[in-house]
Amino acid sequence: MQLSIVVPTYNEAPNIAELVRRVAAVVDGRAGMGLDAEIVFVDDSTDTTPEVIREVAAGAPLPVRLIHRERAVGGLGGAVIAGLEAAEADACVVMDGDLQHPPEEIRALWHRFSRGDVDVVIASRYAGGGTSSGLADRTRVMVSKASTAVTRAMFPIRLKDVSDPMTGFFLIDRRTVEAEQLKPRGFKILLEILARRPLRVAEVPFDFADRHAGESKASVRQGVHFLAQLTALRFGKMSLFAIIGGLGAIANVAIVWALTQLGVDYIVAAIVAAEATIVGNFLLQERFVFQDMRESASGVWLRFAKSFAFNNAEALVRIPIVAMMVSTGHVSAVLATAITLVVAFFVRFLFHSLVVYAP
Ligand code: GDD
Ligand code: MN
Repeated sequence: MQLSIVVPTYNEAPNIAELVRRVAAVVDGRAGMGLDAEIVFVDDSTDTTPEVIREVAAGAPLPVRLIHRERAVGGLGGAVIAGLEAAEADACVVMDGDLQHPPEEIRALWHRFSRGDVDVVIASRYAGGGTSSGLADRTRVMVSKASTAVTRAMFPIRLKDVSDPMTGFFLIDRRTVEAEQLKPRGFKILLEILARRPLRVAEVPFDFADRHAGESKASVRQGVHFLAQLTALRFGKMSLFAIIGGLGAIANVAIVWALTQLGVDYIVAAIVAAEATIVGNFLLQERFVFQDMRESASGVWLRFAKSFAFNNAEALVRIPIVAMMVSTGHVSAVLATAITLVVAFFVRFLFHSLVVYAP
């Protein structure tokens, strides 16, 4: 097998036949490139997409395989990794299933790749000659351009030659991808691959087309995942943990303020606020910091119990320690509080990484 074409799909039933037809026309026999190629669909759909794929596969001029996942681990990114792992060929095209990535461009990707001097060829909307006209509206175009600029600024070396790190259309030598190292979440799988290790990159421009049918699965939620991914890639889990801790602190103060305004006793307000923040932080950490460690860790209630116990113990222990520091040392209460908060942050992070989410 010379080329595998990995297509992640989520409810793309009306697009499958047309996609397979156009891909086959490009890579196959006479008029096409004459490659020995296959299509691997990695599907997380809740509609009839898997049935449609099986039907189309039966009449297709090239091998069409279906991996249907019952649990959509890692979303789009997870599906791409699963497809790369299952592919027959080492050269793998990754493309969307809605025909926004014109199959005819596989030819340009393959030609560039065949020179043999790069690990990945990226189909770019932002390289000379490329366009992003298929982005649904002006807001989407702006968000895309702005996040591309921010991302490139955050990875100035790795993304030096990459004008479109968020594209979902590329040809990669899958031997250069270390699947276990990747933490796919959501849409930006190429960024994840490029940021983790230095690869030799080339780009070819392409026109991002309109969707053939159906609608985009991009969402604000995906946007939040993207921001979490960026921070985690750049600064590691600890920074996300810190951001969530910071948000928690702000929420804590706000709750105390609101409750005391309502006439609630200060001590009661402080306790309610502290416990609410502990629970809120736990939920955010589960979702955005340790999501890739949940599976191998203990059950969610045990994780919660450990986290809850630790945070309460920490709050209780910290106060007498501050008092001790102030009475025995020569530090002010403010400085003592600040020191203990910083130490507590690191201890809390260690405790969560090593105990709460221990495999
Ligand atoms: N298996 C699987 N699981 N596939 C998914 C999932 C999922 O959870 N979510 C989306 N997909 C599939 C869709 O079915 C489609 O084939 C492809 O991934 C892209 O999804 P769209 O919903 O069409 O996203 P888009 O067009 O808004 O975003 C595309 O362009 C972005 C750049 O603007 C994607 O290529 C993004 O990766 C890209 O960043
Ligand atoms: Mn799309």
